[in-house]
Amino acid sequence: MAFVIALAGKGGTGKTSIAGLTVRYLIERKKGPILAVDADSNSCLNETLGIDVPTTIGRLREESLQAVRSGLERLGGMSMEQLLEYQVQQSIIESKGFDLIVMGRPEGPGCYCAANNILRKYTDKLSETYPYVVIDNEAGMEHLSRRTTHKVDVLLVVSDPTVRGIQTAKKINGLIDELGLEINRRVLIINRVSGDEGEELKSLAENLGLSVAGTVPQDNMVFDYDLRGKPIFQLPDDSKAVKSVFSILDFLKIP
Ligand SMILES: Nc1ncnc2c1ncn2[C@@H]1O[C@H](COP(=O)(O)OP(=O)(O)OP(=O)(O)O)[C@@H](O)[C@H]1O
Ligand SMILES: [Mg+2]
Repeated sequence: MAFVIALAGKGGTGKTSIAGLTVRYLIERKKGPILAVDADSNSCLNETLGIDVPTTIGRLREESLQAVRSGLERLGGMSMEQLLEYQVQQSIIESKGFDLIVMGRPEGPGCYCAANNILRKYTDKLSETYPYVVIDNEAGMEHLSRRTTHKVDVLLVVSDPTVRGIQTAKKINGLIDELGLEINRRVLIINRVSGDEGEELKSLAENLGLSVAGTVPQDNMVFDYDLRGKPIFQLPDDSKAVKSVFSILDFLKIP
């Protein structure tokens, strides 16, 4: 059974950065094969992880649908379902210590529900073959439910260090309940804390019923690396962000 860690939170709070650091953590703690899933249509987890993306599941889906519509070559005798399964396999990008799949655009014009359902089935099936899965999401939560029916073991909700940010995290929490996603444990991470506001925001969050896993300081190196397109793996071990994300994950006792 895969242990699934997913990221959620409002735009620009640091989901992708923390997803990247989580992949690094799992590799360094020798947690075995990891599947990183970029479920953000404006994908950039790959940049954080320092790898190129030759293709996305969304693009392969468009191609298959076009091939079917134009009746081209009858897909080498494959059914649509077989073709999509094959393409999920094709979209795996192998890297050092982990694999990555990039979902790409969720939908083009027209309804792709059937194709999306098949893709979901095979990405979920693929996930099951890895002991660890890290899913980076885009800001909306609806998205997570469209992409996967898979249970999530730990949902890391990321907030910026503001009162409004914490309130938004609370709303996201409510939305998760409404969507009926199967989530075992959800915790809040307050990111980019620069002064002593961390403790205050932590109590605010706890008063709102959120469980706070920890805070991550503002770390200019993270920002700087992002700006230069340098992968998060190259951040020094003693970078403030690396150290605090690692200790949060230690605290969560990922099996
Ligand atoms: N702890 C941190 N210290 C400094 N900068 C940070 C930190 N965490 C994230 N950032 C910066 O904040 C910006 C947004 O981060 P990131 O892309 O990880 O957020 P996101 O939640 O994935 O955004 P989006 O909603 O657009 O996908 C980036 O420029 C990143 O480098
Ligand atoms: Mg992101």
